[in-house]
Amino acid sequence: MSIPLVDLGAQYRPLKAEILSRVAEVLEGMQLFLGPNVQALEREFAAHAGTAYAVGVSDGTTALQIALMACGVGAGDEVITVAHTFVATAEAIVLVGARPVFVDIDPETYTIDVSGVEEQITPRTRAIIPVHLYGQPADMDPIMELATRHGLCVIEDACQAHGARYKGRLVGSLGHMAAFSFYCSKNLGAYGEAGMLTTNDATLAERARMLRDHGSPERYRHELIGLNGRLDEIQAAILRVKLPHMPQWNSQRRSHAAHYGTLLAGNQAVTVPREASYAEHVYHLYVVRVPQRDELLAFLREQGVGAGVHYPVPCHLQPALRRLGYRKGDLPVTERVAAEVLSLPMYPELTAEQRARVVEAVEAFFERRPEALELAGIRTT
Ligand SMILES: Cc1ncc(COP(=O)(O)O)c(C=O)c1O
Repeated sequence: MSIPLVDLGAQYRPLKAEILSRVAEVLEGMQLFLGPNVQALEREFAAHAGTAYAVGVSDGTTALQIALMACGVGAGDEVITVAHTFVATAEAIVLVGARPVFVDIDPETYTIDVSGVEEQITPRTRAIIPVHLYGQPADMDPIMELATRHGLCVIEDACQAHGARYKGRLVGSLGHMAAFSFYCSKNLGAYGEAGMLTTNDATLAERARMLRDHGSPERYRHELIGLNGRLDEIQAAILRVKLPHMPQWNSQRRSHAAHYGTLLAGNQAVTVPREASYAEHVYHLYVVRVPQRDELLAFLREQGVGAGVHYPVPCHLQPALRRLGYRKGDLPVTERVAAEVLSLPMYPELTAEQRARVVEAVEAFFERRPEALELAGIRTT
């Protein structure tokens, strides 16, 4: 039995008839961008994020970029974020002409270590982007408190955390703005590129609406320099079919994570993810830590178990960001975590049998390689 890291087909099959009929409707009407499906999805997604406004955009990277632009972040500004994230978080900052300033992460939640933020604030700092990584919310209250004290804008990178909660409140409603991605494998995924911005601020929502469409409040009138960041009707129609299922899919993910945790509890070489006391984690990814990560990854793949690494090279060490001047050793927790993280198969339709098989393969690795346990500091005799 081979088990993929994600199985998009398993989600598509039961929804196929409805999706195809909604897509056909869009094609019959030939209103392809920013039409009735986008408007309805914006209302429906805002309700799922607990915000007053949602603005549909072309993808999550553009959502981050537009949020930064709407908050007035530009050339010469600094934006504090983490390096343990998908590169798009840092990329969006660079694309608006600002400089990413990286702080280290918490070794247990893998999200921003709030204690490292204040010392990085300078007169140039304009915004903070906490990332709700893997589906785990960042510790938002102290971030908002710091931001208020220093007059900074907070943009949540919620691209991996649709439906997650912080102290009972939905992510996307905690900062000044938030960016979501509907990349196909996300907790809510399109069948192409799509993204969403959320906010409770009417002015920011209005600016974002203009920025996604060339800064235009009406056709051929351009108030701002924006970009082409429109969400298309086909993706919006597909997302509207899927959105009502998202809470159920998230609870399936949570229950799979709990099962994995039980199955892996006896293996001291594997650190399972820890849900922060303030969090309702939605397990976009189920990420364990293992010192012999690369060997285990290769072994699992040989055994037909899809595993992945999110992310092997932190942003501060990426060649594209070399000019920022960071060096190996600058973010010790980030670098250690990046060397050890391993994502196991996780998707709502994952069966109990598949989870058991994944864990059997993990256990087989340590049985065949007792020295791996010793490397992890665990005596085998
Ligand atoms: C944390 C994070 N930020 C930003 C993005 C960018 O989203 P997109 O791929 O839709 O542009 C992603 C998606 O992969 C992500 O995981």
